Formats: sequence, structure tokens, C-alpha cells
Amino acid sequence: MKGMIIAANWKAYVESAAKAKKLFAAAKRLASRTGQEIILAPPPPFLGMLAAGNRSKVAFAAQDVSTATGGAHTGEVTAGTAREAGATYAIVGHSERRAAGDDNDIVSLKLQHTLAQGLTPILCIGERVRDEDAQYLVFLREEISSAFTALSQKERMTVLIAYEPIWAIGKTAADSIGPSDLAEMVLYIRKVLSEFLPGKGSSRARILYGGSVEADNAGALAQGGIDGFLIGHAATNTESFTKLVRAVV
Ligand code: PGA
Repeated sequence: MKGMIIAANWKAYVESAAKAKKLFAAAKRLASRTGQEIILAPPPPFLGMLAAGNRSKVAFAAQDVSTATGGAHTGEVTAGTAREAGATYAIVGHSERRAAGDDNDIVSLKLQHTLAQGLTPILCIGERVRDEDAQYLVFLREEISSAFTALSQKERMTVLIAYEPIWAIGKTAADSIGPSDLAEMVLYIRKVLSEFLPGKGSSRARILYGGSVEADNAGALAQGGIDGFLIGHAATNTESFTKLVRAVV
């Protein structure tokens, strides 16, 4: 499928500068050969190293941004710093950050800082488990509404949603969501979005899927009504990433 957004979240998997450069070179080749939009989210020091002077089609994302906007906050990477380092996107509310303490209020603040710096947020939402009473749908609605309430209509339109069910993250293609369940979830997310984006807004909103996307399931999942993927482990190896991007084309 043409025009898919393929965002690669390297997390802390990539610790070598040589490996980071190799993955970037592969991403550049794939972006120009397949026409897919590739976004790389390296660890912060590598973001600056790779994005400096970047004139390729590959874009960069921060893996997270700080709640601070500057000042005495040792160790924090602000949205402004990420932008200066070359990011045009920022992942906000990833489940691994939420597990480290980011609640919906913090995610909302980070989203606002991201937008204030002109970065496009990739807002991650996703349930921990699927309970029989479907409380996970209420949970998802809450994640969306708390993030969107504080934003203007224009800001809401720029947010990319990444639906990442936590139970599917970091496993294998066999443990991931199936295409028909994904299609249902995307419909549900669009329905919730329609409360915040009037008219055609919710059908135009861009929704990515993440959670054990690999070369084996990417092609089928691409049919699930999504606009692209947020990929973790399979994007941290040149061979598996290349196979995966080619499987989506
Ligand atoms: P995974 O990670 O592809 O390794 O499941 C996805 C993510 O957490 O963004």
C-alpha cells in the first residue's frame, strides 16, 4: 500500500553509533525506493548525530519529550531541544513512558509542549488487557479525550494516533492483533475522535498501529484501515526492517 507512514521506535535497543548509521542508511534507501514515509525515533544523542544536515526523505522523531520547557531539569530532553536536534515528530504517551509514571495529565502536557514547538505528535494509546466487560474501550476513550480536550481544532488535526495495545508489544507476529480486530479498533477510535473532530475530521485523522509488527504480519495488518505503523524491535535490525517495509508496499 502506497503512502503508509512507517515510524521506527528504536527505544534503547540501539546503543552503537555504527548501528544507528547503518539503520539510517537502510531507511534512506527504503524511503527513496518504496515511496513510503519513514520516520526514525533514535535515542536522543543519535537523533542529533543522524539528523544533522539530513536532506533525505527520512524524518526524525523524539522518543519522548519532557514536561519541562527548559531550566533546571537535569537529564530532561525538552520538545524545543528535540526540534533543534532535527526532530519533526515526537512520540508522546508511549506505554513504556506511561509505565514509568506518565499519566494522562502528563501526556496532555507533553502533547501541548510538542505542538507548541511545531512538532507533529505521535500520541500512543492502548489498553493493558482485553477484559470481557469491554472496559478497555472506556480506557481508550479516556486516553483520547484527556489528550484532545485541551487542544484547538487545528492542533487536534495534526496529531497522529498510534494504537498500541500493551498486551501485543514486544512479542512476535503470532501474538499481535489480527487484521479484523484491528479494523474494528480503528473504527472505534475514529468514532471517539468524531466527538473532537467535527465533519470529516475523524475520517481524515491518521491512525498508526504498533505492537509486534514484523515482516510476517505487516502486509495483512496494513489492510486494517490504518495509515501506517509504529514499529519497535523489528525496526532495530537492517534485515528485518527492510523485509517489513517491503512487505507493506
Ligand atoms: P514492538 O514495539 O514492535 O517491539 O512490539 C512497538 C512499540 O512499542 O512501539
